[in-house]
Amino acid sequence: MFILAGKFFLWLFSIFMYLINTITLAQPDFIYYDCQNAANYTKNSTYQRNLETSLSALPNTNSGFGFYNFSTGNGNDRVNSMALCRGDVDSNSCRSCLSDSIVKLPQICPVQREAIGYYDNCLLQYSDNIISGYNQQGTNENLVNPQNATDRDRFTRSLMSLLNELGREAAAGGPLRKFATGNTSGPDFTTIYGLAQCTPDLSEQECSDCLDDSVNQFAILYRGENGGRSLLPVCNFRYEIFRFFNGSTMVIPSPPPPPISLVSPPVQKPPGNIDSYYSNILNLD
Ligand SMILES: *[C@@H]1O[C@H](CO)[C@@H](O)[C@H](O)[C@H]1NC(C)=O
Ligand SMILES: *[C@@H]1O[C@H](CO)[C@@H](O)[C@H](O)[C@H]1NC(C)=O
Ligand SMILES: *[C@@H]1O[C@H](CO)[C@@H](O)[C@H](O)[C@H]1NC(C)=O
Ligand SMILES: *[C@@H]1O[C@H](CO)[C@@H](O)[C@H](O)[C@H]1NC(C)=O
Ligand SMILES: *[C@@H]1O[C@H](CO)[C@@H](O)[C@H](O)[C@H]1NC(C)=O
Ligand SMILES: *[C@@H]1O[C@H](CO)[C@@H](O)[C@H](O)[C@H]1NC(C)=O
Repeated sequence: MFILAGKFFLWLFSIFMYLINTITLAQPDFIYYDCQNAANYTKNSTYQRNLETSLSALPNTNSGFGFYNFSTGNGNDRVNSMALCRGDVDSNSCRSCLSDSIVKLPQICPVQREAIGYYDNCLLQYSDNIISGYNQQGTNENLVNPQNATDRDRFTRSLMSLLNELGREAAAGGPLRKFATGNTSGPDFTTIYGLAQCTPDLSEQECSDCLDDSVNQFAILYRGENGGRSLLPVCNFRYEIFRFFNGSTMVIPSPPPPPISLVSPPVQKPPGNIDSYYSNILNLD
């Protein structure tokens, strides 16, 4: 009887472990993630407990517009966590993106006190530092789709005017939602679709600075690719020649033909590496 019961529990235990494994393996890969190796926590520490508390509380802090933030603990053990859904995703997609991130991020960054992970639909960050505001110190992660535009100069002009306009729109979005999408016509009957977003806690000026700096940095690195993204915890943008977002899009008029060049001449950069997290994307860093 005891042996049977023992076997039964062993069986139950293996089913349980199997479920745990399949559940934790089910999260898709991040487009990009970063485990900050500068500071680690130890297993079973107060920091780890606070991190777990923070991540399990985070989904209940929705601002109503897909912005989440939760902090817990004191002094060195304080954990700040933040998540942001892309402004156009519906609440179900937002929730499920956040649950995936909450499982996935501590799994791939198992000891780091600070980490960030980006999916198409949301980002999650936690840190022992305060996560708020734009301080110009973070490095952008720039990704491009390796397909080149047919007419680089015309494409670049249309793209920069689209991104600048979206940056202004997003920054002016108010304290709850700083998000804008739009389209403009590019060369050879292409339509360029763009999206820009900041965390809503940024001021209009901070959001605008963050997106301007990101666009300027991207413009120096890119070589005319048809799609790209710039990722920072507090602001991001993306563009493609296909419609990749839901919901409304404002039409941004194409800029007039070139009297002046809006971008600096191409800077010689070594070719980027193929980004292993998203096979269709080149990493510009
Ligand atoms: C933190 O852990 C990572 C992964 O184990 C390691 O590479 C890194 O050197 C550690 N950082 C410190 C400051 O110990
Ligand atoms: C952490 O705690 C668990 C449960 O209390 C224990 O089984 C495990 O050995 C501990 N791990 C470390 C590294 O202390
Ligand atoms: C986009 O809209 C479609 C149709 O309404 C919906 O099924 C889908 O979940 C939406 N996608 C996101 C990311 O919100
Ligand atoms: C995070 O949430 C707290 C409590 O709701 C709030 O006081 C704080 O301002 C928020 N922080 C940010 C960066 O939004
Ligand atoms: C895009 O253009 C760059 C620079 O002109 C070139 O090195 C690269 O091979 C092109 N990529 C594709 C996919 O055509
Ligand atoms: C661009 O946005 C406008 C405004 O929503 C929309 O009517 C139009 O269909 C879009 N253009 C394309 C090519 O999708």
